[in-house]
Amino acid sequence: MKRIAVLTSGGDAPGMNAAIRAVVRSGVYQGIDIYGVYRGFTGLIQGDLKRLSLGSVGDIIHRGGTVLYSARCPEFLTEEGRKQAVNQLQKNQIDGLVVIGGDGSFRGAEKLTALGFPTVGVPGTIDNDILGTDFTIGFDTAINTVIESIDKIRDTATSHERTYVVEVMGRDSGDIALWAGLAGGAETILIPESPYDGQDLIHRLQRGYERGKKHSIILIAEGVGSAQEISSFIKKETGWETRVTVLGHVQRGGSPSAFDRVLASRMGAKAVELLINGGKDQMVVIRQGEVMGVDFAEAFTGTHQPNMSLYHLARILSI
Ligand code: ADP
Ligand code: F6P
Repeated sequence: MKRIAVLTSGGDAPGMNAAIRAVVRSGVYQGIDIYGVYRGFTGLIQGDLKRLSLGSVGDIIHRGGTVLYSARCPEFLTEEGRKQAVNQLQKNQIDGLVVIGGDGSFRGAEKLTALGFPTVGVPGTIDNDILGTDFTIGFDTAINTVIESIDKIRDTATSHERTYVVEVMGRDSGDIALWAGLAGGAETILIPESPYDGQDLIHRLQRGYERGKKHSIILIAEGVGSAQEISSFIKKETGWETRVTVLGHVQRGGSPSAFDRVLASRMGAKAVELLINGGKDQMVVIRQGEVMGVDFAEAFTGTHQPNMSLYHLARILSI
């Protein structure tokens, strides 16, 4: 292994830069040339890559987003597109590839391994929805961003004795809503993995109101539906006015938390180690605090499930 390339793909996540830095610095430390591929799989197909020096990744550990840019690449969904990518890698004498991204990027990366190209995935997505790893890079920062907003909304909710419906990201996964809801003391959390019971929601709101609670925060993952729909439903059932906040892309940016920087540093270095040791189709995961490599296939044996004991705890604590 003389040359390793690294790219970031799919939705950006805070800590991706720290992971790129770790790939470059740990690779160079071990005598390997590291190449950065720009704009994910799009840059791979176009051969848009550049050697990254130690200095080129200075001053990025604290920055959100990704200095390599990210993209969604429809051509990579075709066999033809992926063959072009492998041709570019071979033309540039790259021996192994590190793909930092989410579930979709992992599916693409695994298909490169099927074409015989040694590839290792590093989970980078705010959604925390990759099966096999306890945490993905960016999740911790995102939930901290969400609770900062919930805390602010709570001030106004308390002052005006109002109910707020707050919508957070998570197209298919409720982890952001679940963890931020528990940490932010949300009265109700709605996640795609648990059937949403409208009457239960109304019952909890009314019960709270009867015992003197004049404000509530309902946190909904976007995969369940829109916050506006929930707000209209509450109005129809109770006559109460609620306010809606959709947090949107503020959840994707920002300086990574210490947890994400450390996780990204460990995972980036582990990816290089796996490639050096002959890893061909692996992803880096963290399980019970230990960072390790496992077969890519593990990510696709099912879907990530949130920790439902947290969900039940949140319900008890917000009774
Ligand atoms: P994320 O990695 O954040 O989940 P996407 O789902 O948008 O983001 O995936 C990023 C890119 O990965 C896609 O634009 C596409 O190029 C590639 N990709 C996604 N799914 C597949 C697949 N099934 N096969 C090959 N490539 C894929
Ligand atoms: O990164 C994943 C995610 O945050 C999802 O939760 C969300 O639905 C999606 O990205 C939106 O991404 P974009 O606006 O870039 O298409």
